[in-house]
Amino acid sequence: MNNLPIGIIDSGVGGLTVLKEAIKQLPQESFYYLGDNARCPYGNRDKNEVIKYTVEMADYLMNKGIKLLIVACNTATAAALDILKKKLPIPVIGVIKPGSLAAIEKTKNKNIGVIGTKGTIDSGLYPFMLKAERDDLNISNLSCPEFVTLVENNEYKTDKAKKIVTKVLAPLESKNIDTLILGCTHYPLLKPFIQVALGSHVKLVDSGKETISDVKKVLDQMSLESTSNLNQNQIKLLTTGNLDSFKSIAEEWLNLHDINVEKVILGSIKGEESKENE
Ligand code: DGL
Repeated sequence: MNNLPIGIIDSGVGGLTVLKEAIKQLPQESFYYLGDNARCPYGNRDKNEVIKYTVEMADYLMNKGIKLLIVACNTATAAALDILKKKLPIPVIGVIKPGSLAAIEKTKNKNIGVIGTKGTIDSGLYPFMLKAERDDLNISNLSCPEFVTLVENNEYKTDKAKKIVTKVLAPLESKNIDTLILGCTHYPLLKPFIQVALGSHVKLVDSGKETISDVKKVLDQMSLESTSNLNQNQIKLLTTGNLDSFKSIAEEWLNLHDINVEKVILGSIKGEESKENE
């Protein structure tokens, strides 16, 4: 039994889609959520840079005290999950494997689409995981870098977003997919537009739900569940970016009001700021 919070990290607001599921499935647990909005998007960055930023977020939450870390970002999972697993003395859970297994369960025609950031798609990790489980799948990959910006700018419900989503997903229309993995945690906020663009016959896999089922198993296996009987999550939201913009997306998406968001300055952001001031 362990009453420390669970840490959740993402490049920005995307991991809130995982936090939302965590709140639903783990009502006794407390959470620290850290979004690196100041340096979002990670998707077009060099792998070593993504590793550095992700490790900084993990170290920050380790210093605060957490019992388990969820890397709620596909790009960071692809770049840094193995490194974090070796480095940290607590369980570390990523979002790519759970999403892959859920897609395999859902597909009937064996044609699976994967959308994600450039970093995630270029890593080839989804096809690798999917094929390792089943080698008779046809996988269509597509990177959608425009989507993260729409979400971070709080434009995810606009007509502009609808048009961009329809245009970017057009190459998938001819692929006869029956299942699509939303391989970026920002994308579930665009789910209604994605569903309309691809048609209701395509099942959308949002890895948040599957990831939290994994977290539940690990908490149980390692006897790490919280003993709190408050039955109300304690949630602390932290961002490296703009407080107001983070707060408004978080309140709407999580359906919570008056949440407190704190600003955090991570190691190399301090360095970057002082270089700029020289
Ligand atoms: N939410 C992140 C993911 O799941 C990526 C967004 C970004 O490009 O920073 O990949």
